Amino acid sequence: MCNFIADVYNGQRIFVGTDKNLFAFYGEPLKRVLAQLGFESIFVVIEPGEASKNFNNIRDVCEVLAKNKCRRDELLLAFGGGVVTDFFGFVAAIYMRGLRCILMPSSLLAQIDAAIGGKVAVNLSVSKNLVGAFYNPDLVLCNLALIEKLPKKEILNGLGEVVKYALLYDSWLWPFLKRSTLASVCENLEVIVKECIKIKQLFISEDLCEKNGQRVMLNLGHTIGHALEKHLNYEKNHGECVGNGLIEVLKLGVGCGLNTQLLLEEVSGVLFRLGVCKELDIDLLLLKDYILRDKKTTNVINFVMLSDVGKPILKQLNLFFIS
Ligand SMILES: NC(=O)c1ccc[n+]([C@@H]2O[C@H](COP(=O)([O-])OP(=O)(O)OC[C@H]3O[C@@H](n4cnc5c(N)ncnc54)[C@H](O)[C@@H]3O)[C@@H](O)[C@H]2O)c1
Repeated sequence: MCNFIADVYNGQRIFVGTDKNLFAFYGEPLKRVLAQLGFESIFVVIEPGEASKNFNNIRDVCEVLAKNKCRRDELLLAFGGGVVTDFFGFVAAIYMRGLRCILMPSSLLAQIDAAIGGKVAVNLSVSKNLVGAFYNPDLVLCNLALIEKLPKKEILNGLGEVVKYALLYDSWLWPFLKRSTLASVCENLEVIVKECIKIKQLFISEDLCEKNGQRVMLNLGHTIGHALEKHLNYEKNHGECVGNGLIEVLKLGVGCGLNTQLLLEEVSGVLFRLGVCKELDIDLLLLKDYILRDKKTTNVINFVMLSDVGKPILKQLNLFFIS
């Protein structure tokens, strides 16, 4: 897989940004492979977890690059889950106004979502991903073999997004999920990852910087999902909250007169059977403040809803409707 690096980069040094878990599993073998390909590698390792996506770490990592006299024509290889690809992708975007960059996503969520589409970011104390950039890497290297060591809860985390993609675009994926178990999904991850990347690309190719309304459809399930994550103090994982967000937005759609009661039942069935999320008794009123803060709006909320599989629509609801 690393052979592809030489296709886009003919420099000598590679700065590898990763987290401690990935470094423990793959640090030495990766160093060896890069050396065999003729590259000198310099590893920059952050703590695993969302808390690492902060400005102090950005400054520290930029200092390390500067101390090593990293030039802007040299390569930063971000190797890890979405935290690593978001964090080091942002470093690549800003260090010397833009380094060469390759992403090597290692979690299911990063392979189908975080590393695709050029969004990179870090968090502020009030909210996640508030400071970032659109910065496209030279290459994304997606290796399914990396998923082998991924804990089951991280697979389930990614599956929330898989269900979202299956609903956004009418292909074989939704009928497949409807008849699948977690085991059969795991056996077919390669084709699933490829299909999800294809679907994400369809939504972003015409709207890279989220300006004309296509890319925003990828927020299906996320308006309520993000609010739920915050309301629960990030105790539940992202995929689980997105799963519950999908169910709640379908319920809202039914309340708005969309003919999607059957779809709502099917989506809940798939999410519960795969173990992505459980039935939650959610009071949307409790989430309203978080939703408003997230969307920075005072009177109306834009929801991505579904009129059918493959037919996302944007609907504006006012607060009165939610209450
Ligand atoms: N930029 C985007 O468009 C975008 C989209 C979705 C999510 N994100 C971001 O992605 C992040 C979440 O990503 P994530 O779910 O991958 O979390 P993560 O990066 O924290 O990875 C989850 C855990 O799995 C471990 N891990 C990763 N790959 C592994 C492997 N192959 N084997 C063993 N362990 C492994 C990590 O060390 C970590 O402990 C969030 O910060 C979110 O904001 C960004």
